[in-house]
Amino acid sequence: MRSLFTSATASTVLLLAVSLANAQVRTWDEAYERATADLALLTQDEKVGMVTGVTWEGGPCVGNTYAPESIPYPSLCLQDGPLSIRFANPVTVFPAGINAGATWDRDLIRARGAAMSAEAKALGVNVQLGPGCGALGKIPSAGRNWEGFSNDPYLAGVATAEAIEGMQSSGVQACAKHYILNEQEHNRETISSVADDRTMHELYLWPFYNAVRANVASIMCSYNKVNGSWACENDGILNDLLKGQLGFKGYVLSDWNAQHSTVESANTGLDMTMPGSDFNSPPGSIYWGDNLAAAITNGSVAQERLDDMVTRILASWYLVGQDQGHPPVAFNSWNGGAASVNATTPAHGDISRAVARDSIILLKNTNHSLPLGEPASLAIIGSDAIVNPDGANACVDRGCNVGTLAQGWGSGTAEFPYLVAPLDAIEEKLAGAGTNIITSTTDDAPAGAEAAAAAETAIVFITSDSGEGYITVEDHVGDRNHLDPWHNGNALVQAVAQTNTPTIVVVHSVGPIILETILAEPNVIGIVWAGLPGQESGHALVDVLFGEFSPSGKLPYTIGKSEEDYGTTWTTELSDTFPEGLFIDYRYFDQSGIAPRYEFGFGLSYTTFNYSILAISLSATPGPTTGEIVVGGASDLFEPIGTISAYVANSGNVPGAEIAQLYIGYPETAPSTPPKQLRGFDKFSLVPGESGIAIFELTRRDISYWDVEAQKWVVPSGAFQVYVGSSSRDIRLTGSFVI
Ligand SMILES: *[C@@H]1O[C@H](CO)[C@@H](O)[C@H](O)[C@H]1NC(C)=O
Ligand SMILES: *[C@@H]1O[C@H](CO)[C@@H](O)[C@H](O)[C@H]1NC(C)=O
Ligand SMILES: *[C@@H]1O[C@H](CO)[C@@H](O)[C@H](O)[C@H]1NC(C)=O
Ligand SMILES: *[C@@H]1O[C@H](CO)[C@@H](O)[C@H](O)[C@H]1NC(C)=O
Ligand SMILES: *[C@@H]1O[C@H](CO)[C@@H](O)[C@H](O)[C@H]1NC(C)=O
Repeated sequence: MRSLFTSATASTVLLLAVSLANAQVRTWDEAYERATADLALLTQDEKVGMVTGVTWEGGPCVGNTYAPESIPYPSLCLQDGPLSIRFANPVTVFPAGINAGATWDRDLIRARGAAMSAEAKALGVNVQLGPGCGALGKIPSAGRNWEGFSNDPYLAGVATAEAIEGMQSSGVQACAKHYILNEQEHNRETISSVADDRTMHELYLWPFYNAVRANVASIMCSYNKVNGSWACENDGILNDLLKGQLGFKGYVLSDWNAQHSTVESANTGLDMTMPGSDFNSPPGSIYWGDNLAAAITNGSVAQERLDDMVTRILASWYLVGQDQGHPPVAFNSWNGGAASVNATTPAHGDISRAVARDSIILLKNTNHSLPLGEPASLAIIGSDAIVNPDGANACVDRGCNVGTLAQGWGSGTAEFPYLVAPLDAIEEKLAGAGTNIITSTTDDAPAGAEAAAAAETAIVFITSDSGEGYITVEDHVGDRNHLDPWHNGNALVQAVAQTNTPTIVVVHSVGPIILETILAEPNVIGIVWAGLPGQESGHALVDVLFGEFSPSGKLPYTIGKSEEDYGTTWTTELSDTFPEGLFIDYRYFDQSGIAPRYEFGFGLSYTTFNYSILAISLSATPGPTTGEIVVGGASDLFEPIGTISAYVANSGNVPGAEIAQLYIGYPETAPSTPPKQLRGFDKFSLVPGESGIAIFELTRRDISYWDVEAQKWVVPSGAFQVYVGSSSRDIRLTGSFVI
């Protein structure tokens, strides 16, 4: 945005200092030159070792390769995950991807990436296994959606690129995952996903374009099949789409145990197998290693293919400068993970808190009951208000929902160095204020009602959790069984609200929950969505609840009135044919005329914003891309085509940040396209009376659709509709342009 006055926030300044500390060291051309020179020095055994994992638990990291002796290249250390560094301590635990997405804040997402990979680098990690951008999240109950940023491909794409650039600026190779159509946990290792070609490009592949264009070093192929063949041995998605159409120059590594063949996987584009052995079926089988060497000897895999794998892997290492004094591995995943260095810093904690704070979404605020002042008495209710009495890390890979929820579960988690629970932070905030804090820190409804009845205001904490399918929590096998709050959260809120005490509900959740029961209670005057906020949970919440900061998060998905309203759910069938096509989340609600409860892009503020003066200045030639393939796709796909802008004024009484959103409706020459699609957003802070200009810079891709016949992105001709507003349904300005 361009503010008409200077009003950079303190956090922006702080974050820029971190994220600009480093920059990517080399271009792909320079990296390939070095990699090619090295290749000539390697023996065949060394090459095979560099593409093969040393087996599960065979090295200090979750993935490790064999180190060659002929060149100064290490046993590569690959480590989860997308929000921190798994199995190591101390580390900073950042808010989950879905919270980063809810900030819609490019600088914060980049700073989060840079900070977490600064820690990864200090710990000797070469490849940090994140960010997540597939699952995209077409199924609201799917277990791992929270690892990614949004189920809108545009928002997910922008966030993915910022995260990767942040991570790689710290000298760590990022890994975009999981590639591709890995949309549920049930049957994830057997299900076949079949998406039509247009849906593939316009939804699921879209954020991977951003990832490749951001020079991501590596991409992880997923467990599932695509059109009947495994994602890690699928010529169509690896060779044609990723290395062909997207021009990906890095390497493809398998998800852990997602490789199923020696020859087929090599020939269809896999470049590295992880963890090296197949730990399920049959035990101990190793597809590469000596078998890959044998397959080259008997001619079923070409020598050039192995050389290509090694070159890609080496080039990615050079790309981020890991030849220049990258630290040795400083922890062991299998002995408690205590690191020999402490890479956490107060600044990283501040970034974690800033992301958590800016991801808080205010859904309901009747009669401006928030922010809270200093009430004479305040009831704090629910087990989610306190840390698990057994400790924040009591459950392996966070595989339980006990105490306050700040990460989901599975491999994409890390050990909390500390966890500031809501109650801790509220007590700290109100120390000396004379507020009588009455607590009921279980989910028992009568006890909650008793606490509420004794207080002026009640805050009830509820949760909904999910995670990776290798852990089952309270009968949820990764994916959620329903979208209701856990632990009888509806009954708890009802009991509290029915005491006639004004009630504020705080939601810690992996994704949407159905809020209808809660909204039916007239005494529920506020609903605050805090997602999965990481270690600084309580501090971030207090920042918003008591008005130090106005909430500015916006929903990165739709909250429906019922689960059925989404039109998608996980399946136990052997295949998912993606019958909904392009129509997921708000695209489906819009197309089907279904009223959501809280629409995509929605979020209240303590102030108000006034939009005016829409300006459209675009020009593009209709028709297909004509450019050659470069890193990220056809060279003209991301060509700038102009800007759309609007004035936004803070028309209220307190400082606040607005996220202005641009949606585009396509002309009918682009058949069966969703009514409107996000194609820009701009976030800025304004003091009362201040105006800024929201600027949406568009590229050719933003007004293109995938033409299946032409096998190209095509700009259709005709009139496009322009919608600028505060959410996908709170459109303040409309216009059009003709191509
Ligand atoms: C999978 O099959 C669908 C339907 O036949 C087709 O449209 C799509 O292009 C195929 N995808 C790949 C990656 O081959
Ligand atoms: C070549 O060797 C590989 C690895 O041992 C084996 O999987 C494959 O079946 C062999 N192919 C032929 C044609 O012998
Ligand atoms: C690591 O450093 C932080 C300061 O950034 C400090 O607060 C923390 O106690 C240290 N942790 C350990 C285990 O030394
Ligand atoms: C909100 O304010 C209106 C108008 O003053 C009042 O009628 C209503 O009862 C208030 N609602 C609540 C929940 O306090
Ligand atoms: C919003 O801005 C327009 C144009 O500047 C102005 O006419 C209008 O009064 C403003 N409305 C509010 C509520 O500030």
